[in-house]
Amino acid sequence: MRKSLAKSSLVLISAFAFAMLLNLSGNFSLSTSKSTDACISCHEDKELTYEKDGKIISIYVDPKLYSKSVHGGSECDDCHKGYNPDEIPHSKTKEK
Ligand code: HEC
Ligand code: HEC
Repeated sequence: MRKSLAKSSLVLISAFAFAMLLNLSGNFSLSTSKSTDACISCHEDKELTYEKDGKIISIYVDPKLYSKSVHGGSECDDCHKGYNPDEIPHSKTKEK
């Protein structure tokens, strides 16, 4: 009984440490990327949608999920070229 308790708390602790690690690196990449911060400031709104081809599409970006995703180290504008955060809608400024 005692032994298994110690073992499971060790698992918990290392899971926690791992989560901290993810969190740290996530915060790091978010706070160093200016354009990403600018994009996130609007796109972290869960209600944000737009209409594309007559369909309502969610354009919500979860900042926590994003920072932990494989793209977490990238700026939004590494991929979304020509999006001017000061212009709505920015679809028109898209480079094709
Ligand atoms: C690694 C490249 C990459 C990065 C980095 C990236 N995106 Fe995307 N994003 C894509 C691709 C590819 C799509 C799908 C394009 C489509 O469906 O038209 C997409 C789709 C989207 C959509 C939905 C658009 C639509 O028409 O459905 C939004 C909103 C969006 N991204 C915002 C962001 C924001 C904000 C960031 C930064 C936090 C970001 N993206 C970072 C590649 C990227
Ligand atoms: C001022 C708030 C705001 C900021 C800042 C912002 N967005 Fe948006 N974004 C919106 C709104 C509102 C829409 C939907 C408007 C529309 O196109 O109909 C949208 C739509 C989008 C779409 C989907 C439309 C499309 O053309 O595919 C993408 C992708 C996107 N934004 C990416 C970005 C990126 C990348 C940045 C940072 C460079 C950014 N946004 C900054 C508010 C914002």
